[in-house]
Amino acid sequence: MKIRKAIIPAAGFGTRFLPATKSQPKEMLSVIDRPLILYSVEEAVQSGIESIAIITSRGKSSMEDYFDSSPELERFLEEKGKLDYLKEVRRISGLAEFCYIRQKEALGLGHAVLMGEKFIGQEPFAVLLPDDIYDSHTPCTKQLIDAYDEYQASAIVLGRTDEEGTKMYGIVKPRQVTERVFQIEDLVEKPGPEKAFSDLASLGRYVFTPEIFEGIKKTKPDHRGEIQLPDGVKYVLEKQKVYGVLFEGDRYDCGDKMGFLEATISLALKRPEFSEGLKTFLKSLS
Ligand code: UTP
Repeated sequence: MKIRKAIIPAAGFGTRFLPATKSQPKEMLSVIDRPLILYSVEEAVQSGIESIAIITSRGKSSMEDYFDSSPELERFLEEKGKLDYLKEVRRISGLAEFCYIRQKEALGLGHAVLMGEKFIGQEPFAVLLPDDIYDSHTPCTKQLIDAYDEYQASAIVLGRTDEEGTKMYGIVKPRQVTERVFQIEDLVEKPGPEKAFSDLASLGRYVFTPEIFEGIKKTKPDHRGEIQLPDGVKYVLEKQKVYGVLFEGDRYDCGDKMGFLEATISLALKRPEFSEGLKTFLKSLS
């Protein structure tokens, strides 16, 4: 079955970004000239996704405005002859079909994904966490969709990590299938270096069969009262095969301030209009 739908959970408080996120969504913070969430939406669309449910919450309606049309701005740009900006503004509102679902309380990522159950129905779908930017020739979500098409099973993105990473990410027990594809035998959230099965971490992109919703419903809240996604994945693992795809490309974790700064500099260095000037500026600092 073709993967047409995606869920983008964006209802969290973004506490690691305070005070910036006191009254604006983390997902709307701009890396160079595009809000974080636009990177995920574009990746989804470039991967063949047609309908996107953004999981949102109070105080985050700027995301809805962002993907809506902007008649006044468009008229203004037209009158001033700023046609390149006009084209870009119109392109953004036409990227996909958008649906917004409120998560009334930030009860965790698993809970946020569950909010999209009715929107998804009985078909496989993608989940993209908007605080990660993946920059690659084949979009990250497309790499997972290709694995889904081949194995007819859920696929999650993996990245190699270090000792620190074993304390931050879910770590998988892999059985290698091809150079980049692994069947996942187990998944443990933040095990630490001693208990980690491998150096392969589960990152922020997924393709799920609808069974994930059953898994999330069976998951009990953790000590912070949050329903986590990896527990739902573990449930699916017991019923069906789940594959991990080692991501090919550059990933920027924009969920915290340091990662966000690294993303801004790295992506600006890749843009011809900033590259030379930024290099000269960075050299002048050392
Ligand atoms: P994070 O844990 O990285 O985001 O969740 P956060 O909770 O907003 O940030 P911190 O940890 O407080 O700094 C990954 C994604 O899942 C969404 C977040 O909005 C983010 O895009 N999320 C998280 C939800 O939609 N609902 C939740 O209950 C939790």
